[in-house]
Amino acid sequence: MPDSNQQPTTAIVRIQRFNPDVDKKPHMQDFTVPLTPGTTILDALHQIKTEQDGSLTFRRSCRHAICGSCAMNVNGRNVLVCKTPLARELDKQGCVTIKPLPYLPIIKDLVVDRSSFWEQYLRVKPWLIPPDNVPEKEFRVSPEEVEALHNAETCIMCGACYSSCQVIAMTKHYVGPHAALKAFLRVLDPRDTAPAERLADLAGGDGVYRCHTIFNCIDACPKNLNPTQAIETLRKLAQKRQAMEEARQERQKTLALPVKSEE
Ligand code: F3S
Ligand code: FES
Repeated sequence: MPDSNQQPTTAIVRIQRFNPDVDKKPHMQDFTVPLTPGTTILDALHQIKTEQDGSLTFRRSCRHAICGSCAMNVNGRNVLVCKTPLARELDKQGCVTIKPLPYLPIIKDLVVDRSSFWEQYLRVKPWLIPPDNVPEKEFRVSPEEVEALHNAETCIMCGACYSSCQVIAMTKHYVGPHAALKAFLRVLDPRDTAPAERLADLAGGDGVYRCHTIFNCIDACPKNLNPTQAIETLRKLAQKRQAMEEARQERQKTLALPVKSEE
């Protein structure tokens, strides 16, 4: 007689399939996979692809929550499947539902077209625009200036925030939480020479004022970042961008000197 406390040894993985060459619209397909305590959802997708259906298409690379390529929608939430345990997501029937990231065109199965995501990323010029007089040795940035960036540099560009935002569902012209977070990084970086220019773009149409403060981006971020707070900061700074530019120019006169930390 089976032990009722025994853990199930298999799980049902319900996947949204779509092959543009043959399908008119997406449909769901169930697969049964082996389940161990360490199985991740990405492991399950690999098992299906190698053992059951080689045509299943999805993105992944690092398997360690670093590359950002495996973001998908699991049971209605955007997650990195490489760091999501399968057992945790199963319902009472032992089933998990996996779909591609929402609001983006589907290329095939779980792969979406992220063109608009990258277009907005490039729009904010995510690179540093340094001063002409770059110090010979190093820039000296204070702990407080680093702290102000709120770890935003740990963003891995997975798109989980972007495709959870309902403004993105309405318009792909909106800058989006990911690009706003990158802009925030540069605007607050004392080494950057173009804060006013960046803020002028962000204050325009489809910039940070299009955010409806829906907060989905915070819930979706696998790195626990806070794009909403970054957007709020950018909105405030956009209103005093000239003063910010002048303060930045003053600060850059001393960027090569040792900094005094504010106690
Ligand atoms: Fe979208 Fe996040 Fe704003 S979900 S509306 S960017 S708070
Ligand atoms: Fe790289 Fe998941 S495979 S983040």
